[in-house]
Amino acid sequence: MNLILLGPPGAGKGTQAKRLQQAYGLVQLATGDMVRAAIASGSELGQRVKAIYDAGQLVPDDIIIQMIAERIAQPESARGFILDGFPRTVPQAEALDAMLAEHGQKLDHVILMEVDEAALVDRISGRFTCPQCGASYHERYNRPKIEGRCDICGGTELVHRADDRPEAVATRLAAYRNQTAPILPYYRARGILRSVDGMADIDEVAREIEAVIAGGGEARSAMHR
Ligand code: AP5
Repeated sequence: MNLILLGPPGAGKGTQAKRLQQAYGLVQLATGDMVRAAIASGSELGQRVKAIYDAGQLVPDDIIIQMIAERIAQPESARGFILDGFPRTVPQAEALDAMLAEHGQKLDHVILMEVDEAALVDRISGRFTCPQCGASYHERYNRPKIEGRCDICGGTELVHRADDRPEAVATRLAAYRNQTAPILPYYRARGILRSVDGMADIDEVAREIEAVIAGGGEARSAMHR
């Protein structure tokens, strides 16, 4: 099974991707984590994209497409993957189709997580993350089970992201509206776009996503959005 989690910054894509990874044995392919890893490594590519990332702008399509193509080509992706943060532009969506065709794969679900903008800002401002595995926590809504320790990988260096500053968040929300929302009609036209209520609590959102995957349940069709 291959699926895309779509939604604005802070919608909960990463949180739900980690759960799906554990529940279904899928591979999480998170382009934001890939960009952060490149920056942390200090590579030439990382240095090229750091200012773009810190400002909250989208990294150029060719760089992102190359990153994801390398991961989709790996044997572990053959057992199914969750795309988290990709595609984010129409050219990226088209490139994904070409990659899937090349590997004889298809998309099973595109799940849009809908969240009010005020809630997004609240979520992002209270977020802290594990740089080791990309897990997200929140000071009020989602604390780690053991204070200061990542539930997923045990990492103890939980940090605030450089692009979670208010100015960068405003730029990221604008990028979502202007560059990412235009891919919704692309998937709607193919009849594989469904939406879930991302305002619900984390467990409820997970249940809605499971219902979409199971092919029924409470999830709302996004045909008219
Ligand atoms: P990326 O890392 O993908 O960031 P994003 O899309 O802005 O999404 P976030 O990681 O901020 O949010 P999320 O939806 O994963 O929410 P989370 O689960 O953490 O991208 C960062 C940057 O990398 C981009 O700006 C760009 O520069 C570059 N980039 C990446 N991909 C790219 C691409 N394809 N093309 C070009 N550039 C690209 O949850 C948020 C918070 O809310 C957490 O604190 C969490 O604990 C909490 N929370 C989650 N769910 C709930 C809930 N239901 N109720 C209450 N709180 C919740």
